[in-house]
Amino acid sequence: METQANSGSTSNSKNRKILVTSALPYANGSIHIGHLVEYIQTDTWVRFQKMQGHECYYVCADDAHGTAIMLRAQSEGITPEQLISDTSDEHQVDFKDFAVNFDNYHSTHSPENRFFSETIYNRLNDAGHISKHTISQAYDPEKEMFLPDRFIKGECPKCGAEDQYGDNCEACGATYSTTELKNAVSVVSGAKPIEKDSEHYFFKLPDFEAILKDWTASGHLQDEIKNKLQEWFEAGLQEWDISRDAPYFGFEIPNAPGKFFYVWLDAPIGYIASFKNLCDKKGIDFDSFWEADSQTELYHFIGKDIVYFHGLFWPAILHGSGFRTPTAIFSHGFLTVEGKKMSKSRGTFIKARTYLNELNPEHLRYYFSAKLGSGVTDLDLNLEDFRLRVNSDLVGKVVNIASRCAGFVKKKFNSTLSDTISEPELFAKFADASEPIAEHYEKREFSKAIREIMALADLANQYIDEKKPWQAIKEEGREQEVHDVCSMGLNLFRQLMIYLSPVLPLMAEKTCDFLNIDSMQWSDIQTPLTGHKIKKFKPLMMRVEKDKVQAIIDASKEELQTAEKKETAKKQETPEEKTAPIASESDLSHIQADPISDTISFDDFAKIDLRIAKIIKAEHVEKADKLLHLTLDLGGETRNVFAGIKSAYAPEDLEGKLTVMVANLAPRKMRFGVSEGMVLAAGPGGEDLWILNPEGDQSNGAQPGMKVK
Ligand code: 2FM
Ligand code: ZN
Repeated sequence: METQANSGSTSNSKNRKILVTSALPYANGSIHIGHLVEYIQTDTWVRFQKMQGHECYYVCADDAHGTAIMLRAQSEGITPEQLISDTSDEHQVDFKDFAVNFDNYHSTHSPENRFFSETIYNRLNDAGHISKHTISQAYDPEKEMFLPDRFIKGECPKCGAEDQYGDNCEACGATYSTTELKNAVSVVSGAKPIEKDSEHYFFKLPDFEAILKDWTASGHLQDEIKNKLQEWFEAGLQEWDISRDAPYFGFEIPNAPGKFFYVWLDAPIGYIASFKNLCDKKGIDFDSFWEADSQTELYHFIGKDIVYFHGLFWPAILHGSGFRTPTAIFSHGFLTVEGKKMSKSRGTFIKARTYLNELNPEHLRYYFSAKLGSGVTDLDLNLEDFRLRVNSDLVGKVVNIASRCAGFVKKKFNSTLSDTISEPELFAKFADASEPIAEHYEKREFSKAIREIMALADLANQYIDEKKPWQAIKEEGREQEVHDVCSMGLNLFRQLMIYLSPVLPLMAEKTCDFLNIDSMQWSDIQTPLTGHKIKKFKPLMMRVEKDKVQAIIDASKEELQTAEKKETAKKQETPEEKTAPIASESDLSHIQADPISDTISFDDFAKIDLRIAKIIKAEHVEKADKLLHLTLDLGGETRNVFAGIKSAYAPEDLEGKLTVMVANLAPRKMRFGVSEGMVLAAGPGGEDLWILNPEGDQSNGAQPGMKVK
């Protein structure tokens, strides 16, 4: 039986086999709260399915290919493999700390993904669904690479605004082609792009028009999405360019040297690859999930911005290569903060880690769930509403029930619950809510589920308010009543926590510990805990404090400033690493930049304090292509200098030698440490580069620290 995008009435069917994915995050940036809407939504849904006893797997991976990742790694002086490995580690810790519990987390840069990308491509090619066309594209003649639109900047052809990206203007909103951009430059090298021809490989999407029309109309998509796809059908389906020229970080296309799969071709195939990796580890039957006539269910949770890929290309590719198509695509809206797009300058572009440094992940899980529905409308995080809602619902209502009852049971009744349930009707009322709440979860109507659960929490609190165990305990002969009321209260609390477990798995775990039970299954909702010994109550959740929320905003603003400073430092460092390897300092760049046009006065020159220095230590700098770390003796004083001379000197060639350094440069913080001066060198670069070396040794009287006249 299938849960489809608009129905979702299968919560009663047994023995379902379900595979679930979230969109694969790019491996060149941190997870932020915008991403978390989707991961929290998916994780909650998967946890709910598992609690129903279904065989459900949740897989994901880092989306590790593409030009941006290749260039980012270059700019950091590391390999793309290193970059994607570091990012994957960071992503996985963030997910774990938000209790996003993948059954497998893999990478699109994996042997499994290479295998499935090649298999799918070969099958499509054999069936005649791949074509080749020569196209003309912007090319960076200096960097010798084709330029994606966002790596070209120039003036808007419509309004003249400067510094606009290759395909659209942020100032006037115009869209255009890169060739229309005025005074265009490559963001990578600064060179003027030229137009260059190249042969590209295309997936013939129009071959699948009939199948796609049928598929999109058959309940696999939400209505809003279905309507959107309708517009695309009306506009006419186009062939899709699935290749990119070298240099590119990705998989080379079989029998097409120098041509690589476009990142968006192999990204969704990463879903299959990650699942295959899991199957190999756990002995799960892979084929039963992916064969064309699979009886299992497959769901992709995605943001509404990537519907084109998942609603058209993906089912067409799967169908064309003999795999099953998705049961449903579940799209969601974007996150806004305080009613606006997340903004770095306002401090609302909040990274997962920045949030975690201050607040409990389940505060956010709860808030998002309390606002999430099955549609694609945007979700707003209003920070004051967030604080009040979490404090009122979770701390003020749910946890309050347990904290009001636990103390009496411990102190007065040997930590043991009553043998019977004193209000069976109330207990049954809570148990009867199981079906509607399950139905809401199943349909991704989490806000409705939360509303029902909180209505029950209100009932539980009313019950305790009416019974007033804190008064009754003072009156003689009413002990049993207090025991029953508090045991009843704790049973209601347990029922609420069962319902909330998919949203609050960490608090559910603490609840199990407090109630001294192994686990909480959905079916446990029907059976009370009686005559059962519980453990000491510990606070299950703290309030959201105002200053913590402010701390997150402040920290996010600070991160922006740090990133900007780093960027500026890098800009100063990059030309020096690329073109002027002599310099580890940029303060004198105006002197070195162009010796012919940039003259300096004698007075300027006289300010430079040149000294003889002895190189007492020379070492490689980890992750730096051009730099050596020199420890220089200036005649009693030691200086650290990072010098761009690695291409010409091995560290062992330098140790013990004398050289000349600029001793009065202000220390500069570089990526690798603080540089406290600059050694002088000259030459065209590469191996042909010479540091100044006063006669090679000290026999002529040259001494470290001597001023150069
Ligand atoms: O939009 C994105 O962030 C992509 N990295 C999502 C890829 S989802 C899937 F197709 F792999
Ligand atoms: Zn414009």
